[in-house]
Formats: sequence, C-alpha cells, structure tokens
Amino acid sequence: MADPVFLITGASSGIGEATARRAAEAGYRLVLAARRLEQLEALAEELGGAERALAVRCDVTEWTEQEAMAEAALSRFGQLDVAFANAGFGAERGFTASTPEHWRAMVLTNVYGAALTIRATLPALKESNGHLLLTGSVAGRRALPGSLYSCTKWAVTAMGEAARLELDGTGVRVTLIEPGMVDTPFFDNPVESGALEADDIARAVLYAVSQPPHVDVNELLIRPTAQLT
Ligand SMILES: NC(=O)c1ccc[n+]([C@@H]2O[C@H](COP(=O)([O-])OP(=O)(O)OC[C@H]3O[C@@H](n4cnc5c(N)ncnc54)[C@H](OP(=O)(O)O)[C@@H]3O)[C@@H](O)[C@H]2O)c1
Repeated sequence: MADPVFLITGASSGIGEATARRAAEAGYRLVLAARRLEQLEALAEELGGAERALAVRCDVTEWTEQEAMAEAALSRFGQLDVAFANAGFGAERGFTASTPEHWRAMVLTNVYGAALTIRATLPALKESNGHLLLTGSVAGRRALPGSLYSCTKWAVTAMGEAARLELDGTGVRVTLIEPGMVDTPFFDNPVESGALEADDIARAVLYAVSQPPHVDVNELLIRPTAQLT
C-alpha cells in the first residue's frame, strides 16, 4: 500500500510546519499549503523532495486556490488521507483596535478559509475514510476581552462539531486541536517563557491521527502547564 497523504494549510511556519515534520517522520507523504511558496518549497525539499512532499501556493480565502490545492494533491499522490485546516492569524484586542481591513482578512482566513478547506478536501477524505483536523484555540472555548480573533475560533469550534455530525457514519474522523499559547510567529513579540512549542501541538496532532479507525479524538485542548485561562 502507498504511504498515506497528509495535507496541511499554514504549513509555511509554526504549528503547520512542525506538524509537517512529525507527519513526515511518521511516514506520511505531504501536501504543504500556504501563501509563501519559497518556505514551502524549502520544507518540501528537506522532507524528502518531490516523491514525498508537494508545495502548493494557496491563499485559503480563495475557493479556486483551495480547489486547485486539492486537485494538485490528488494528481500528484492519487489519494488524500488527512487534511489539517490550520492556516490562521490574530489581531490586536479591542473592538476599536486593529483595522476593519485586518478584521476582514482574519475572519475570511480563520473561518471562511477553514470551511473552504473542508469543502475542497471532503470528497477525497470520504474516499479514503480519512481524517479532518481543524486548528481552533483555547480562545475558541472562552471569550477574551475585545477579541474578534476569539470569536473566529468559537466559529472553528462549532465548525469542528458541525463537520463531525455531518460525517458521522462515513468513516471520516474529525478532530479539533485547541492550543493555548504557542511560541510561533503568530505573535509579533516574544512570548512569555513557559509557552508551548509548535512541536508540542504537532505531537498532539499525530496522536489523534494514529488512533485505530474506530477511535475519533474529537477535541484536544492543550495549554502550557502555567496558563490559567
Ligand atoms: N500560536 C498560538 O499561540 C496559537 C494558539 C492557538 C491557536 N493558534 C492557531 O494555530 C494556527 C497556526 O498558527 P501558528 O501559531 O502556527 O502561527 P504562524 O507560525 O504565524 O502560522 C500561520 C500559518 O498560516 C498561514 N496563513 C495565514 N494566512 C493564510 C492564508 N490566507 N492562506 C494560506 N495560509 C495562510 C501562514 O502562511 P503564509 O503567511 O505563508 O500564508 C502560516 O503558515 C492558526 O490557526 C492560529 O490561529 C495559534
């Protein structure tokens, strides 16, 4: 049997990049998607080159690019076993902070983009009895003061459960990954010491996908040991 195929959006840095490394180590072939193609190509090269990893430029807010990403995955590898809708970013807190343009881009990326990734990959996941994962957040479980970002992650929490309910009985599993603070380029400034590392989340993702077919890890909420809320 051919090695399974793992698609990741937001694979050019942080959690997505770390997950790509762990998935490669576990024997998956990879489809690495984000807007910065140079980073993706370097990572694909590092993780085995064209035979093992495909770099795809994809802005997740564009349906045609998501469709093309899924088509490229199937045309290169012939199957898709895991899709990880992970691309996303934050905004300064406060309903008068940041800018309306930044808000629009964030909502489109975090919510619409994740939904488009589901839409683009679902037919292939149904074919393979595959696994869909979404990166939510601890901020999708509780409201943060003035945080529209938190609202987008509440939407992702709902999306994970909505997808799980739709896919019940199809053989496709759905997992919501909910990190606390992770030291990645998500933050413009250095994070507090004691934060999680991207690889801590990558290992959680690999835990979920390595369970036997009858086990669906629905949610993984992972905080640093010293994060109160
Ligand atoms: N770091 C944390 O503390 C934390 C906590 C909870 C949840 N999260 C979530 O974890 C996910 C990954 O974030 P991270 O911490 O790993 O930050 P990161 O290193 O900044 O990674 C964000 C990724 O999203 C991609 N991306 C952003 N907009 C995109 C778009 N329109 N189309 C395609 N790709 C796009 C970026 O790639 P390009 O710029 O190359 O497109 C990058 O690869 C996000 O959903 C974030 O909300 C992070």
